[in-house]
Amino acid sequence: MKIPRELMDCGAETAIVLGSGLGPFAKSLPEIFSIEYGAIEGLPTSGVPGHAGRFLVTKLQDRPLLIAQGRVHLYEGWSAQDIVKNIQLMHAIGIKKLLLTNAAGTLNKSFEPGTWMMLSDHINLLGTSPLRGGPNFIDMSEVYSLRLRRLFHEAAKAARLTLHEGVYAAMAGPQFETPAEIRMLRAIGADAVGMSTVPEAIQARALGIEVAGFSCLTNWAAGLSPEKLSHEDVSSVGNEAAGQLIELLLGAFPQI
Ligand code: HPA
Repeated sequence: MKIPRELMDCGAETAIVLGSGLGPFAKSLPEIFSIEYGAIEGLPTSGVPGHAGRFLVTKLQDRPLLIAQGRVHLYEGWSAQDIVKNIQLMHAIGIKKLLLTNAAGTLNKSFEPGTWMMLSDHINLLGTSPLRGGPNFIDMSEVYSLRLRRLFHEAAKAARLTLHEGVYAAMAGPQFETPAEIRMLRAIGADAVGMSTVPEAIQARALGIEVAGFSCLTNWAAGLSPEKLSHEDVSSVGNEAAGQLIELLLGAFPQI
């Protein structure tokens, strides 16, 4: 991968990856510069609507913040190694803290769609890992940093925002789940289900990056409501919830 000098020199230590429909998050922040994924040799690009593919450097409270607007997914046909190239790039430019966001279905009756859930842990049902071929046997007992979780809970309390915490199950997709699959996921302890984030979290931990994960709960998972699932509905709920994420980030950022 050939990393543009501008990115190498951006000075950011914190990065945030924006999931489905969360693009508006970036709109309200000043752009210092941006680079399309397609302009970086060796970085895969996404064709999914709502996943603009670019890095954007902004300034928050006088500190640079790297925003990855859009990601690529296994279901687009990329390998688990391909889809974490963004994380390898971040590590190379000096990112130490990573906030991963996604859109997810909720399986937990007390976590309403339209609210956010911070990841306490995950279940990898993707059938693969970005670490295939090494490094092996990375410790996964605290993928999602307790320190960052405490910080964000404090920020949520101060901003009077609901912030749940629970387990995210990653399914390979690209189809949404069946009601039977959702019953299985509930039985094994998942609170939310989505198709991303887990490979990036694994890669980041293997590189020693501190990670936090956030699911924008966009819909009841299959079978929990009479409504059919659609990518458009997922994106529009994400658009509305992006504002809450900014508030959380502003509250937590000084101590991240
Ligand atoms: N399932 C999987 N991925 C998702 C969902 C869902 O219900 N909602 C948003 N992303």
